[in-house]
Amino acid sequence: MTDQHLPPTSRRPGFATQQVHAGVPGAGADGSAVAGGPQAGGVNPRATPIHLSAGFVFDDFEQARDRFAGTDDGFTYTRIGNPTTSALEGRIAALEGGRGAILVGSGQAAVSTAVLALLAAGDHLVSATSIYEGSRGLFLDNFGRLGIETSFVADANDAAEWDAAVRPSTKAFFVESIPNPKNDIVDIALVAEVAHRHGIALIVDNTFATPYLERPLEHGADLVVHSASKFLAGHGTVLGGVVVTGDGFDWAVTDARGARFPHLTSPVAALGGSSYVERFGRDALAVYARDVVVSRFGPTPSPLNAFLIQQGIETLSLRVSRQSESALAVARWLERHPLVESVDYAGLESSPYRALAARYLPRGQGSVFAFTLRGGAEAARTFFDSVGLFTRMTHLGDVRSLIIHPASTTHAQRTPEQRAAAGIGDGLLRLSIGVEDVDDLLDDLEQAFGAVLAGEAGRAVAAAADAHRASGTEADAPGASGTDAPRASDTALFAGAA
Ligand SMILES: Cc1ncc(COP(=O)(O)O)c(C=O)c1O
Repeated sequence: MTDQHLPPTSRRPGFATQQVHAGVPGAGADGSAVAGGPQAGGVNPRATPIHLSAGFVFDDFEQARDRFAGTDDGFTYTRIGNPTTSALEGRIAALEGGRGAILVGSGQAAVSTAVLALLAAGDHLVSATSIYEGSRGLFLDNFGRLGIETSFVADANDAAEWDAAVRPSTKAFFVESIPNPKNDIVDIALVAEVAHRHGIALIVDNTFATPYLERPLEHGADLVVHSASKFLAGHGTVLGGVVVTGDGFDWAVTDARGARFPHLTSPVAALGGSSYVERFGRDALAVYARDVVVSRFGPTPSPLNAFLIQQGIETLSLRVSRQSESALAVARWLERHPLVESVDYAGLESSPYRALAARYLPRGQGSVFAFTLRGGAEAARTFFDSVGLFTRMTHLGDVRSLIIHPASTTHAQRTPEQRAAAGIGDGLLRLSIGVEDVDDLLDDLEQAFGAVLAGEAGRAVAAAADAHRASGTEADAPGASGTDAPRASDTALFAGAA
C-alpha cells in the first residue's frame, strides 16, 4: 500500500482502509507525477483523475527509446498501461494480497488472458464443472479450437478426481471460489495442493466472493481473476475484468520432459536473450501476461471504466457485507416457505457447504444463490414474470436485486441431462441480492409466490407443498429453527390457494 495520505504504521491497514487508499491516484508507474497527472500545474486532486489519452508524451529521443526498451517504466500507450488504470490495478492487487494486477475489458477477457498466459496449443486445462457458462464455452469452443483441451471435474472438492484428470500436458486448474449459480463452495487449499504437487498453476475466479469475503492467494491460488463488472464496480454500469498474480509459483518448474512453462524460461530476443524468469523471477508470468498477451490481443479497458470500477471498490466492503447479510435472511426465509423445494446457500445451517463456508467465508457467503420452486418450469415462469422490485436481468453483484432463470437462459446450452447433473432444474431461479431493505425484498418475493398459487400451476403446487408439509419434513429441516419468524402471510397465502 503506497498512498502518501496514510500515516506510517507497522500494522497492515484493514480492508476498508485499503479499499479507499491503496494505490497512488494518477501517479506514474514509478510513483512520480505524470503529464496531466495530479501534480501537473500544481493541481493535486484527491480522486484519481481520468486520463483519457491514447498515448503519453515523450520528453525526448532518449526517453522514447528507454520506454520502449523497458528501462524507463513511464507510460507510453494506453493499450500497454495508463495512469488511471494503473492506480486501480495497484488497489486491486493490495486488496487481493497479490504482487500485481492487470485490468482488462471484461471478466471474459480476464479468464482468456490468464489461460493464454499459461497454456499453448497441445496443453491441457482441468476445470471444475460448476462454473459460469461463458467460461465453460470459452474453454470448450474457443480454446478447444486453438488446440488447448479442457476436461472437467464433477466434484471440485474431491482431490482424487483432480489427480485422475492430470496429464503430462496439464498446465492449469480452474475453479470459482463461490461457483455460479449453486453456491457450492470450493476447498481452494485442497485443489492447490493437488495442482502444486504436479507443477500445475491454480486459477481462481473470485468474482462472487470478492477479496472482502475471500482472498484465494492466501489459500494457495496462483492467479485470481474477476469479472469486475459485478461486485467490484457494483452498480451495473460498466464492464471490466482483472487478473491478479500471486508470488508463490516457481515458473521455472521442470518435469521429465523439461521446462513446464517454456515460454517463460526460454531466451527472448526482446529481453536481450534472457528469459522472463531470468529477468523477472516470480513476476515472470505477470510481465508476460501484460507485455505479450494483453498488449498483443488488446483487451484494453477504457480509463473511464477503470475510474468507475475504482469508485465502486471504494464502497466494496460496505455493499458486500450488507448484501451477504440480506442474502442469508432471504435464503432462510425461502427455505421455510412451503412452495420452495430447496435453497442452495452455503450460509444456511442445512447446506452441505456450511463447514467450507465457515472456513473460507467467515465474513459472509456472498449474495448470489439459487432456490428451486415446487412446480417446475411453469411455476418458475410465473414467479419470474411476477417480481416487481427484483430486476429480470442476466447480471449479478449489482446494488439492485436481480433474478434469472438459468435453465432457459444462462444454462440453456447445456443438455437437460447436464443441467440435471449440475442440480439446475426447471424450477431453479438465481437471485443476486442488492442493498435494498430486506423487508421490501421479501414482500416482492411473497407477492410472486402469490401469483404462482393463483396461476395455472398453483393448484398442483399447493397440493405438492401440502403433502410435503403433512409429511413433517419441513419441521425437521435445520433451517426451520432459524430466528426469522415466518412471515404472517406464509400460511394465509397457502391456505387461500388450497
Ligand atoms: C463467475 C463469472 N466469471 C466471469 C464472468 C464474465 O464476466 P464479464 O461479463 O465481465 O465478461 C461472469 C459473468 O457473469 C461470471 O459470473
